[in-house]
Amino acid sequence: MLDIAVMRDRLAEHYELAPNADLAEDLADLYAKMDRVVPPADWAMHAPYVAAINRLKRERNAVVLAHNYMTPEIYHGIADFVGDSLQLAIEATRTDADVIVQCGVHFMAETSKILSPGKIVLIPDTGAGCSLAESITAEGVAEMRARYPGAPVVSYVNTTAEVKAASDICCTSSNAAQIVAAMAGDTVIMTPDTYLAQNVAREVPQKNVVWWEGSCIVHERFTAEDIAAFRDWNPDTRVIAHPECPPSVVDAADFSGSTKGIIDYVSREKPRNAMLLTECSMASNIADALPEVDFVGPCNMCPYMKKITLEKVLWSLHTMSPAVEVEAQTAEKARRAVQRMIDLSRQLGI
Ligand code: 13P
Ligand code: SF4
Repeated sequence: MLDIAVMRDRLAEHYELAPNADLAEDLADLYAKMDRVVPPADWAMHAPYVAAINRLKRERNAVVLAHNYMTPEIYHGIADFVGDSLQLAIEATRTDADVIVQCGVHFMAETSKILSPGKIVLIPDTGAGCSLAESITAEGVAEMRARYPGAPVVSYVNTTAEVKAASDICCTSSNAAQIVAAMAGDTVIMTPDTYLAQNVAREVPQKNVVWWEGSCIVHERFTAEDIAAFRDWNPDTRVIAHPECPPSVVDAADFSGSTKGIIDYVSREKPRNAMLLTECSMASNIADALPEVDFVGPCNMCPYMKKITLEKVLWSLHTMSPAVEVEAQTAEKARRAVQRMIDLSRQLGI
């Protein structure tokens, strides 16, 4: 990855990137989707990047697949498709673009490449990792298989291609319980998220769910004590937790679901006050569409997701790099695990 200052200078040789109030006005339709959370002066800074990226996307026949944790200027300004991990993976199989720009973390870009090996998949910052993906290797999966012979391995999609290749099937937070329930045998190995596995174990009591010790640095920080203290102060608040949170937090919440599940729940219920125990951009991205909801309380930033910026997306499309590559044999095995998840999800109506 280039030095940011060098990147900025090189981009300035090709694009007009100074803050531009007139361009910001021209792009008022896009701004209307985020004006509750993005100040006008910031939009005047973002607008030249948004215009340049959207132009380059057309020239390169590229699509931007953006995760729900992207900042509003990415989510509303340049994304062609937004969603949770499962939705993004499915979209990667459907798009007929030549180039996918993955606005999310590295495992998401790898998943897109695994599913669309013929396409160029760009990740604007290769340092956009994930504490869960970093917590386990293929050797770790082999260790679990040795400990629980014959038990199927369900690996969270937040894993490297090598770990997916060593697993029987993948899951995401939107289908984990149903996938585990559909596995043959009594014992099911889940990797690498301990809390997701513990939450699933309670939903699927007919299975003996065993897990790897890994966690998400964003969701492990929420506590049931914080929720109780917040409810004392504001009893009217609807608390919504991602299933990567500890079970005690999920217990103290009113609802738990994937990032798509959270968006659907808040959009449907429209609570007066909503506390989203997940990444901070989630609330920002839906704030304009839900003016009747006040998003209150703490959230945590994912430092990996936040590595993706408009500037790096523009650089990535300008240089057509960094492109994600997955070794062919690993990709083939990993594809089986991801495709099995997609097919089973479709069968189960998820
Ligand atoms: P979702 O699949 O719910 O979008 O979660 C992905 C993720 O990384 C959450 O931390
Ligand atoms: Fe990984 Fe957690 Fe960031 Fe999601 S929020 S990408 S699980 S570190």
